[in-house]
Amino acid sequence: MDTIPLGPGFAVELSGVTIAEVASDPAAYSAVRAAFEEHSVLIFRDQVVDDESQLTFSRCFGPPEVTKVGSQGTGTHFVILSTIGEDGKVVLPDHRLALRNRANQLWHTDSSFKKVPALTSVLSARIIPARGGETEFVSTRLAFERIEPELRQKLENSFAWHDYAHSRGQIAADLVSPEERAALPPQCWRMVWKNPVNGRRALYLASHAYAIEGMELTAGKKLLDELMTAATAPRTSYVHNWRSGDVVMWDNRATMHRGRPWPAHEARLMVRTTISATAVDGLDSMRPALQQAAESQRYEASLNAP
Ligand SMILES: [Fe+2]
Repeated sequence: MDTIPLGPGFAVELSGVTIAEVASDPAAYSAVRAAFEEHSVLIFRDQVVDDESQLTFSRCFGPPEVTKVGSQGTGTHFVILSTIGEDGKVVLPDHRLALRNRANQLWHTDSSFKKVPALTSVLSARIIPARGGETEFVSTRLAFERIEPELRQKLENSFAWHDYAHSRGQIAADLVSPEERAALPPQCWRMVWKNPVNGRRALYLASHAYAIEGMELTAGKKLLDELMTAATAPRTSYVHNWRSGDVVMWDNRATMHRGRPWPAHEARLMVRTTISATAVDGLDSMRPALQQAAESQRYEASLNAP
């Protein structure tokens, strides 16, 4: 297996290994897992991929998420990202599917709004538009290392609240259904995720984050905005241009990503599998003490917020 650097200090293409080999050969898995811990974004080119092979590969890394209510693929292990309607045609720009794609164009890490956040997401391209539709990544590990030491230390002991309704509300007030709101109450996570394998720390941030525990709401929002801007500074990203046969996986503990737009009339179909973080991935240190009490308090407050 060879690694070919792609991004500014993170993201590599892996050659000489297939997702099928990772699923069947423990040595191949170990090599890819080590690359994942080190480089945060991995690109496999020219893969033979369908739902089954993607899921088998993904399962090597941990337990697969079950897709939440309100998403295409709900109740399965697959998230279907597409703008193709039930009639097989590309939907209009104001259709719910199109609005959800716009929400996906906000910088985020997957599943920080869930009770169990994600270790990794695996994405394969099934239908690619002729232009646009790239996926752009930044390293929140490198972003953390750019921050001055004093603030770094403060963030390591700070906790942020993440809410799916918050990020979707930036696109359209009613994009989140009452059913989704009920299923996805806000979650509180430490703002720095320490990788237990190499000890490197990363900012844990996303467009889902709306408040910092113990900070006045406006001041917390201001700090979150500043951190988002710093983490996504110009010339720090890797933009992935999709080719047929590409499989891309990323470390949700150490990166943020966003979809890039493409011509609205063109079809795009992507399939994502998502693996939950577990104790060996450093999950336990992400939870605040007294989480239950704080969570219910903040949830009540968010319901009453203007
Ligand atoms: Fe995503």
